[in-house]
Order: sequence, then C-alpha cells, then structure tokens
Amino acid sequence: MAARNKIALIGAGQIGGTMALLCLQRQLGDVVLVDIMEGVAKGKALDLQETRGVLKADASVSGGGVADYTVIKDADVCIVTAGVPRKPGMSRDDLLKVNLEAITRVATGIKQHAPNAFVIVVTNPLDSMVYAMYKVTGFARNKVVGMAGVLDTARFQYFVGDAAGVAPQDVNALVLGGHGDDMVPLLRYSSINGAPLTKFLDRAKLDAIVERTRKGGGEIVALLGTGSAFYAPAISAVTMAESYLNDSKRVLPCSCLLDGQYGVSGLFVGVPAVIGKAGVERIVEVDLDDAERAMLARSVESVRKSVAETNL
Ligand code: APR
Repeated sequence: MAARNKIALIGAGQIGGTMALLCLQRQLGDVVLVDIMEGVAKGKALDLQETRGVLKADASVSGGGVADYTVIKDADVCIVTAGVPRKPGMSRDDLLKVNLEAITRVATGIKQHAPNAFVIVVTNPLDSMVYAMYKVTGFARNKVVGMAGVLDTARFQYFVGDAAGVAPQDVNALVLGGHGDDMVPLLRYSSINGAPLTKFLDRAKLDAIVERTRKGGGEIVALLGTGSAFYAPAISAVTMAESYLNDSKRVLPCSCLLDGQYGVSGLFVGVPAVIGKAGVERIVEVDLDDAERAMLARSVESVRKSVAETNL
C-alpha cells in the first residue's frame, strides 16, 4: 500500500485549522499542525482526531510547537499561515515586519526538515512573504508558491455570479498581479462558461465588481472586527495542494517567481500556472493590451516596493 501523503500546516490559527479539516475531509493525507502556541496546535489536532470516527477518515492529525520542527519531517506539502492577520484599517503591507520574522523562522525549519516539500505561502503581505520563503529556503522556484489568485478569482466569481444571477462555478475569471488592492482582474479573459460577461452585466456594474474584488479582503476584515477571511483562503490553498499531490495539472492563478514572463524577472507575482507533481510546471502567458499592461506594471511596482522592505 502506498504511504499516505504528509501535509504540514504551519500556523494553526483560523486558516490553518480550517485547512486541516478540509485535508481530513478530502483524505489528502496525514496532517501536522505547528504553531508558536503549542496548545492551540495540539488542541485543534485533538479536536480534529475526534471527528475521524464520524468522518470515517483514515488520515490522522497531530499538533506540535515551534520548538520541535522535526514533526514536519519529510512533509510532501507545507502550507504556511504563520504570522498575524490584519486589523480593521490596516493594509496587508502593514504586516510586513512582524510576519517577515515568522516566515524567516518557518522557512529555516522547512529547509532543515522538509527539503523536498512543495511550499505554499499564505501569510501576508503575500508576494513579499513568498519571496522571503524562497530566499531563506533556497528551494527551486517551482517548489515555492504563494496563494492569492485562487482566492481573488473566487471572490470575483462570487460577485459576478451573484450580480448576474448565475452559479459562481460557471464564472471563469482571470486575475493577475500582486495580492494587493491594485491586483488586475482581466475582464477580457473572463466569461460565464464562454459567454462574455457583458452579455450579463453592463460595464459600470463590472467595474464596481472589479473594485470590490480588489478590496474583498478588507471588506471581510471590517465586518469581522478581529482577524481576516479564512474559509475561502483555506479552500484556495488546499485546492493548490491537492493539484500538486494528485498531479491534476490544474491551471490555477498563483504567485510564482517570474523569469521574464509578463516582462518581469525575479519577483513573485500572480499569474496562471499549471500545478502538478513537479510543482509549478508551467506559467501561462496571455497577451495584454496597453491598459492591462499599465495596470499590471502598477501592481508589480507595489510588489517590488514590498520586497525591497524585506532587505533579502
Ligand atoms: N511560527 C508558527 N506559528 C506562528 C508564528 C511562528 N513564528 N507566528 C505566529 N504564528 C501563529 C499564531 O500563533 C496563529 O495561531 O500563526 C497563526 C495565525 O493564525 P491567525 O492569527 O488565526 O491568522 P489567519 O487568519 O489564519 O491568517 C494567517 O494568512 O491570510 C493571511 O493575512 C493573513 O498573515 C495572515 C495569515
């Protein structure tokens, strides 16, 4: 019998705990939760173990603290949410200093104990935190990726579906750029199962949806009052892990290290990518018109500034 996959979730907070449940329900593999608050990781792991009889899940969940990274030994996938989320009024960039410290520690642990893992970073500010993960681990570019585009696209799908009165799953969308308020939803490449969006919604409505998508994270932060979104981020990251573990080769928008694609090199920026057993197997490039190129350039500039602040 083939050994089960091992999935290390580093950060056992709102997103980490939700991902653990999703991994268990989807039978993706054994899960290890790691958190600076050891009791939280152990408590959530025990709570999840206690679901297994009802779920009829073979895979197990365990928890541990950051003092002993050996618990992630030889993990196939590491999904990192360690750090702090936004408070109302904060931008993702306001988190940089404190979360960089967390990512640097986590990256050191992953490098030492799970050198062959596919690493998915969720911690914000996303595009610079995934850059830091790449730099500190020294892993190959195809093995380190950031989760943002699946979430941004999912938000866009929901807003369009809701406004047009159609199922969100029939909305096909493409969002490029950094995971910030200047991300670039590409209306030209979006459709409702092939039918142009403009058949369903006028331009003003679509522009309002683009704006709402850009600020989608902040809308939830303001409503929650404490913490940030976690259900949609969790399912987005687990979907990326699943495509890697099952070699599904799904085309998912992810923050990837670019090497000339879209005219950008040396930065992690959101682009459509094929995720399979080799990790990021291919980056898909689509043609952009002048306006789209200008929007992407603005977004890339924000990423560049954020990365510069890491001093890496
Ligand atoms: N190592 C391990 N865990 C850490 C570390 C560290 N160095 N620093 C913080 N943590 C843990 C916290 O103890 C907490 O349990 O990370 C967890 C983060 O969980 P939450 O505060 O609930 O935040 P969450 O909503 O899960 O978001 C995590 O993802 O989307 C981003 O902006 C979000 O940066 C935030 C991250």
